[in-house]
Amino acid sequence: MNPKDKSTILVTCSPGLVNYLRTEVELLGYAVTAAGTVDVELEGDMYDAMRLNLYLRTAYSVLYLLRSFPCDTPDELYRKVRQMAWEELIDPAEYVSVVTRVDTPTIDNTMFAAVRVKDGIVDRILKQTGSRPNSGKERDNVVVQLYWRGKTCKVYLNTSGRKISDRSYRKTMTDAPMRESLAAALIMATGYDGTQPLVCPMCGSGTLPIEAALMATRRVPALLRSNFSFMHTKWFDEPAWQAMRAEALKQSKKRGGKTEFTPAPIIATDIDSWAIEAAKRNAQTAGVEHLIQFAVCDFAETAIPEGQGIILLNPEYGMRMGDVKQLEETYARIGDFFKQKCAGCTGYIFTGNLDLAKKVGLRTSRRLVFFNGGIECRLLKYELYAGTRKHREC
Ligand SMILES: C[S@@+](CC[C@H](N)C(=O)[O-])C[C@H]1O[C@@H](n2cnc3c(N)ncnc32)[C@H](O)[C@@H]1O
Repeated sequence: MNPKDKSTILVTCSPGLVNYLRTEVELLGYAVTAAGTVDVELEGDMYDAMRLNLYLRTAYSVLYLLRSFPCDTPDELYRKVRQMAWEELIDPAEYVSVVTRVDTPTIDNTMFAAVRVKDGIVDRILKQTGSRPNSGKERDNVVVQLYWRGKTCKVYLNTSGRKISDRSYRKTMTDAPMRESLAAALIMATGYDGTQPLVCPMCGSGTLPIEAALMATRRVPALLRSNFSFMHTKWFDEPAWQAMRAEALKQSKKRGGKTEFTPAPIIATDIDSWAIEAAKRNAQTAGVEHLIQFAVCDFAETAIPEGQGIILLNPEYGMRMGDVKQLEETYARIGDFFKQKCAGCTGYIFTGNLDLAKKVGLRTSRRLVFFNGGIECRLLKYELYAGTRKHREC
């Protein structure tokens, strides 16, 4: 095992985001060799894995394949894991956690597979070094991930540890915040690039406008994050990581510097003053507060700037919060708001309730499927031509 060895890198994401993830990976210059519903594969070494952790906006985890082998039983799994040279990767003073995804008739207890992998790792390190690493559920240190499908086991180093969709800027939460990776994908789906105004009424904790500001200024998303699983391995090349971060900072400054590129107005409003306070704090942590104009108001009072802007709303949809009857009225008012105040813009509603969406009363020009916390949702697009539109949805 060597960090400069090319191996398969599996990048995972949540359902509905794989096409956005694929585009991001390809834009970083990697060829995608295979894609599933929640992951893409490419070839690369540990330095590529580090770079992917730094730059990807829509991913969950970056997994580097250590070994793949045929396997029939938990004992065989233990033996084969124990044959791997873990002492070259993990210091006995470290802490290891094992994550498993098991889909094989051989075993129905995923916990047992995790225990067998953990035993194989610590027993090997104990034999080679005389001491054993601690292990448990915390994902802040070395994370090893097993996929056991049918008769094949794949053992990965999960180089991310905690999901990289957690960018570390959301210090203050409101009800029902969306994941940063989902917000980034929604912004990508609108075609936003920072040159057109973006308006996010109902912004909650600010995830959508913050992700938009990060993207508009090409800020590398993981620069705020200080901990990744790869840092806890013996392979960690700190000077190379610092050089990568410095390069990423330079890139962020090139477009994000206040004088060199200022995005068109980004406006974020919410009726809840606590949500706006939270959004401001989060934007400040993310370093984009100066790029977003915040206001407390009913969505319909949000000022719409001149130009062909994007209006993106994420109203409550009555499954986890909000009263359905009242929400019907809110969705109907969103339709009025689009017609009366947003002519010439493109409107988007992200919702998990299509019955409520019908109350908007405008024809959608596109409907994209996403998932939020396990709920199937749609990003609905509305072309808000200047002049009254007569189409009503039935
Ligand atoms: C589903 S949450 C948005 C979550 C947000 N995307 C995030 O990541 O935090 C819906 C938001 O709409 C706001 N809201 C509800 N009714 C509103 C209204 N009439 N005008 C403005 N905001 C409203 C709520 O205060 C809440 O923050």
